[in-house]
Amino acid sequence: MSYAAAPAPNGTDRTNAPSHVAIIMDGNGRWAAARGLPRTEGHRRGVEALRRVVRAAGELGVRTLTIFSFSSENWSRPASEIGDLFGLLRRFIRNDLATLHRDGVRVRVIGERDGLAPDICGLLGEAEELTRGNTKMTLVVAFNYGSRQEIANAAQRLAQEVADGKRDPASITPDTIGRYLDAPDIPDPDLIIRTSGEQRLSNFLMWQAAYSELVFVPIHWPDFDGAALEGAIAEYNRRERRFGGLATKTAAS
Ligand code: IPE
Ligand code: IPE
Ligand code: MG
Repeated sequence: MSYAAAPAPNGTDRTNAPSHVAIIMDGNGRWAAARGLPRTEGHRRGVEALRRVVRAAGELGVRTLTIFSFSSENWSRPASEIGDLFGLLRRFIRNDLATLHRDGVRVRVIGERDGLAPDICGLLGEAEELTRGNTKMTLVVAFNYGSRQEIANAAQRLAQEVADGKRDPASITPDTIGRYLDAPDIPDPDLIIRTSGEQRLSNFLMWQAAYSELVFVPIHWPDFDGAALEGAIAEYNRRERRFGGLATKTAAS
C-alpha cells in the first residue's frame, strides 16, 4: 500500500485539481443498513474508502485534504458506536501512520482535544509530530470538531487579550479571527464534498467555507473512490468562482 503520488490517471489534468478539498464522509450507516450489516461494518469500510481517497487526492495533485471524522455532535450517538469510531481512529493511526509518513503526507488535527481519551490525544499528537516536516500533501483530520466551538474558542482567546489590555477591540478583523482558528496556516477549502446525498454542512468549517464550492454526491462514503473524487473535481471545474465580483465574461465586456 502506498499513498505516494503516482502519475495522474489518463485524461486527468493535475493542474485542474483544487488546492484544498474537504470531505464530509457521510453515509457509513446507510451503506451498512442497505446490506443488512451492522453500522460498525459501514465505518470499517469507510476507513478503507479513506485510504483510497487519500491516495487518489495525492495522485490528482490536491495539496490539502481535510476529512470530517467525528463531529462535536456525534457524541449524541450510542456509546458503543462512539467506541467503534474511536477504535477505528486508533487503528488507522497505528496501521497507516508509517505509510503516510513515508509518502510525504503531513498530518494535522483540528477539533477539541479536551474530553478525548489520553491515548487518542497521544496518537493524534504523535501523528502530527512525526509528519510535521512533510510537504507532498497535508491531511487535516477534523476529529471531535465543530465549527461553532472553533469560532467560540477564537472569540474567547481574543476577549482574553482585550481583558488583559493587550488588544484593542477595533483591531479584530475577519483576518484576525481566521488566525485564531485551529489551523490558521491552512488556506480555506476550494471544494467541499459531502457524500450520501445530505445537503448541509453539519457544523463543518463554517467560517472557512464562505467561498468554497459545495458538491453533494449521492454515493455512500464506503463506496467513494478515486473516480468519484475525479467526478466531484470535474464538477468543481465547471463552476465559476466569483468571490462577489462579476462573471468573467461580463467583466471582460
Ligand atoms: C459517517 O457516516 C460517519 C460519521 C458521522 C462518524 P454516518 O455514521 O453518519 O452514516 P449515516 O449518515 O448514518 O448513514
Ligand atoms: C457529519 O455527519 C459528521 C461527520 C461526517 C463526521 P453526520 O451524519 O453526523 O451529520 P448529520 O447528523 O446527518 O447532520
Ligand atoms: Mg450521517
